[in-house]
Amino acid sequence: MTELDESTTEAVDYDITPLLQPLQVRGLTLRNRFVMPGMQRYWCADGAPDERLREYYRRRVQGGVSLVISESCAVDHPSATKNPTFARISPDTREAWRACVAGVHEAGGAMFLQLWHQGAVNYGGDAESNPDFVALSPSGLSHPGEMFGRSATQAELDSLKRAFVQGALDAQEIGTDGVELHSAHGFLLDQFLWPGTNLRTDRYGGPSITDRATFVAEVAQAVRAATGPDFVISVRISQWKESDYDAKIVSQPDELGQLIPMLRAAGADIFHASTRRFWLPEWEGSDLGLAGWVKSFTDAPVIAVGSVGLDIDVMASLDGQEGNPTGASRIAELVRRFDRGDFDLVSVGRSQIGDPEWVAKVTGHRIPDIRAFKAGDPWLSHDTVTT
Ligand SMILES: Cc1cc2nc3c(=O)[nH]c(=O)nc-3n(C[C@H](O)[C@H](O)[C@H](O)COP(=O)(O)O)c2cc1C
Repeated sequence: MTELDESTTEAVDYDITPLLQPLQVRGLTLRNRFVMPGMQRYWCADGAPDERLREYYRRRVQGGVSLVISESCAVDHPSATKNPTFARISPDTREAWRACVAGVHEAGGAMFLQLWHQGAVNYGGDAESNPDFVALSPSGLSHPGEMFGRSATQAELDSLKRAFVQGALDAQEIGTDGVELHSAHGFLLDQFLWPGTNLRTDRYGGPSITDRATFVAEVAQAVRAATGPDFVISVRISQWKESDYDAKIVSQPDELGQLIPMLRAAGADIFHASTRRFWLPEWEGSDLGLAGWVKSFTDAPVIAVGSVGLDIDVMASLDGQEGNPTGASRIAELVRRFDRGDFDLVSVGRSQIGDPEWVAKVTGHRIPDIRAFKAGDPWLSHDTVTT
């Protein structure tokens, strides 16, 4: 099954009430099951969010979402990114992030900071603002055969781990409800998991997923140790990379069955299973998507994601293609999988950029009123921010 419907006026019925139930994760109660996933907007000034970004997050909570995960927020390390328009958590940006979190809380939502390091991905940016920039990663590979920067030494890995811990402590201090470790889409932590970019022969590399997950697990463990038992840690993973949609960190279910318990034992409370289309089967012989498979290996809540409400996937949008809102049958399929126990939460990305009221409109059965997400220039466009 690759396509499901789609007309926004189709007469398919759906019962959204199961997705409106609260969920408890450690001490945190989420008021419903809708999440806004991390989406980098390039709007920060030297890593700090401004009024516009604060309003953008707050509006999505007013529109019904229960949990906002910040855009990828660089940890405070010289190799994390050289782009000053990317979010960063550091002493000089902490107050601006505190205000963002307060806005989300005032509106009744919860917020996680997504802790990120770009690894060997060459995201450009203003090199002059960071002339000392050296890209660090497991093996200096952004993609098999493509070098950018170099392999991190043990001492550098220790300092990277400390930067993640400091980011989590800062997130906790400014009042967030948790953090998400961005181990997806081909960035630093994911470069450890992906055999194509991790050629290390020390304890951070090796043929099995448990070898390659060692650094991610150590980071999760260190964050848990520093932040204590009440702070929520989500770990985002993906098979696909921005540079390779067919990449795989695990090729068989049993490998996933080793990875997930390992990260759970290290401190993960939530798994965010990133796919581009939530309904596509991960492996032959079952219609389970990646989220459903992850769920089969853990008692922790799992977040599903991918083209909820839109007929083209995220990378097509980022390439500038225009998609269309989808109809009720896509929502009915989402509810069917949720009711079956495939996942506990659902992330809605672009649809919520397009319409801050997306959750309210879907729960109110007002799909034809949804304002379409406009690809155009989703990184920079301002007119998609608020109604
Ligand atoms: C503009 C944009 C920026 C994104 N930035 C991030 C990011 O910072 N961190 C991340 O984990 N995913 C990022 N993503 C991926 C989204 O979190 C999400 O997984 C993806 O858009 C699929 O969900 P959707 O189909 O509902 O849009 C981004 C997506 C978009 C459209």
